[in-house]
Amino acid sequence: MEQIMDRLAGKTALVTGGARGIGEGIVRRFVAEGANVMITDVLAEEGQQLAAELGGSVAFTTLDVTSSSDWARALSLTEEKFGRLDTLVNNAGILKFARLDDLTEEDIRQIINVNLIGTMIGSQAAIPFIERAGGGSIVNMSSADGISGANGLTAYCASKFGVRGFTKALALELGPRGIRVNSIHPGGILTPMANPTNVPRETYDKGYWIYPAQRSGEPADIGAAAAYLASDDAKYCIGTELSVDGGLNAGHYYMQMPGAPQPPQA
Ligand SMILES: NC(=O)c1ccc[n+]([C@@H]2O[C@H](COP(=O)([O-])OP(=O)(O)OC[C@H]3O[C@@H](n4cnc5c(N)ncnc54)[C@H](O)[C@@H]3O)[C@@H](O)[C@H]2O)c1
Repeated sequence: MEQIMDRLAGKTALVTGGARGIGEGIVRRFVAEGANVMITDVLAEEGQQLAAELGGSVAFTTLDVTSSSDWARALSLTEEKFGRLDTLVNNAGILKFARLDDLTEEDIRQIINVNLIGTMIGSQAAIPFIERAGGGSIVNMSSADGISGANGLTAYCASKFGVRGFTKALALELGPRGIRVNSIHPGGILTPMANPTNVPRETYDKGYWIYPAQRSGEPADIGAAAAYLASDDAKYCIGTELSVDGGLNAGHYYMQMPGAPQPPQA
């Protein structure tokens, strides 16, 4: 069994979209490393269930990241309950696979609103709380699709490139104020977003032959990356983009040349 450290003992984090998927993986890892966590999500039932399972070092409250009043309430509640806020993890996100021709204006606005504007207004609201704790960090969930483009994901890519740029600019502003801002760029993590029809892993992973890792990743892989960035181990990481993508963005294969993977047999 892997040894988990307690690098986050004494710290409190608020995680958005924490009820399932990658957010849940982050919550579980933060708790294992000794943090108190305010789990937030629009999925109240799943969030409450997770909080009940994890016990006294966590609490749940609903937070729609597009709502300024939800942010104000959730942040105050976190400080009331745990006495401080050291880390904000802007993880909540949405995705819709469609060509640009087939996205509605409402789809486009909604994707940018949740993924990018939610991250921006949440970070803005959290600054005074993290400053009151004496400094800390903000971890923003971008994507492998925030580093290179992907078909069917024009609005999503725009939102995730936006999160990456926002992270860099905010890192410059907040570094001198003792708040480190960094981004994570997951690729191919097996969650309800990536696998909405719940295809078994064995079948699902066949589509990943094009990844150097030859398989999809797990929410725990992103939990480990977020715990690192939130911990003092990452005290010199400011504006860093951390890819956790099974090698997807390492480059591209020349399929006819030596070293390329072979597609699985049908
Ligand atoms: N799964 C992947 O392969 C992958 C890859 C790259 C980036 N990401 C990013 O990681 C993050 C988590 O994705 P996931 O795969 O766990 O997806 P998921 O759909 O399983 O989880 C996303 C969570 O965000 C919540 N959410 C959605 N809209 C919200 C809102 N307005 N306010 C608050 N919460 C909201 C959902 O209820 C859900 O619990 C997202 O930002 C996603 O873009 C995922």
